Amino acid sequence: MIVTVRRPGRLRGTITPPGDKSVSHRALMFNAIAAGTARVTGLGPGDDIRSTAACLVRLGVRIENGTVHGRGLRGLQPPAGPLDCGNSGTTMRLLAGILAGQRFPTVLTGDASLRRRPMDRVAEPLRQMGAEVRLDPLTVAGGRLIGRRFEMAIASAQVKSAILLAGLYAEGETSVVEPVTTRNHTELLLAAMGAEVMVNGRTVRVRPAAALAPVDVEVPGDLSAAAFWLVLAGLHPDAELVVAATGVNPTRNGLLDALTRIGVPVEVGERPPAGGEPVADLRVTTSPRPAPFEIAQPLTARVIDELPVLAVAAALIPGRSVISGAGELRVKESDRIRTMAEGLSAMGASVEERPDGWVIEGGRELRGTRVSAHGDHRVAMAMAVAGMLASGETEIAGAECASVSYPGFWTELERLGATV
Ligand code: S3P
Repeated sequence: MIVTVRRPGRLRGTITPPGDKSVSHRALMFNAIAAGTARVTGLGPGDDIRSTAACLVRLGVRIENGTVHGRGLRGLQPPAGPLDCGNSGTTMRLLAGILAGQRFPTVLTGDASLRRRPMDRVAEPLRQMGAEVRLDPLTVAGGRLIGRRFEMAIASAQVKSAILLAGLYAEGETSVVEPVTTRNHTELLLAAMGAEVMVNGRTVRVRPAAALAPVDVEVPGDLSAAAFWLVLAGLHPDAELVVAATGVNPTRNGLLDALTRIGVPVEVGERPPAGGEPVADLRVTTSPRPAPFEIAQPLTARVIDELPVLAVAAALIPGRSVISGAGELRVKESDRIRTMAEGLSAMGASVEERPDGWVIEGGRELRGTRVSAHGDHRVAMAMAVAGMLASGETEIAGAECASVSYPGFWTELERLGATV
């Protein structure tokens, strides 16, 4: 699918983003191994969440209209064949942690992008705990697990989560020391389900669990989806948008800090928490004088999925912006450092690739042209934002992949006045 985007004159409106992808995966998976039934409302509508639900169903879990019938920690059933995780790294890595605690072997596979992504980062720690894990394809067989301490070299909430989940099944304590703090949705939800999870700075510890209590989850809106609208409004010359009911968990709301650095006015209207997560309505208006910005660790980890659209911002803002500490972008759904540099350069931006980010000399006009989504949902949507702020027409080839996290994205874009 090729989508053509043209800049609208004026941007007004209220947008409700889809349910948070990270929270949705966890609400389904953790309730699947809980002792009882729970309701999950506001689940993310994207393909990745469908992949998680489909894998759980193949493991014997009944899921109907957001009701998850938990089978208990050790009650999953051997699937008839390999589990297809589609495009979803979170599905594959978190399931690997749960499967390390089951008594049967499971093969996990996915699309070409997922099959290229590094899985040794979960295989190795799970092996060290006692699971039998092979790669290509990722095969996890439970064993007698022993808790231990892991000092992680990379910042990854997915790896941290896989280890903590395996830790529920292990003898003794399991702990993870992160190089920088990453999103803590796993810790919050497991604690709400009665697991013994202790957090002290960058160290998370978990004790073996006899059972998890099912917990109803109201999934907040996805800040990583909201990010496209927030950046678009901040850099559009005549904009005022409200993004409603969005999750603003402090371990992953680095985008709000980045927008503040740029000088984008964002009003945060607090709402009651949902699913144990803080929630807010975000009102954003045109930045009168956007400033170039720098993003480095530890902020990078709190804004990792929003960096593609922040690269678009950097390309438009006069001056030099530097994004560093983001080497992980090279092993996402695409090599986002390369794919965003390629797309923005094709539109006329000055983007220098670094191993761990970009140096962007912003302020040149972006000109519409044909760019590729590279099969990566966040690249598709970030390039659409670039097109909304460029002269002429921007064609995004392969635009259908936005459905991985945000199936309604193109309809919403059209509603805001873009020609789609
Ligand atoms: C996620 C963790 C991050 C993030 C991904 C979702 C999660 O990945 O990029 O979109 O839900 O735990 P890594 O753990 O690979 O950094």
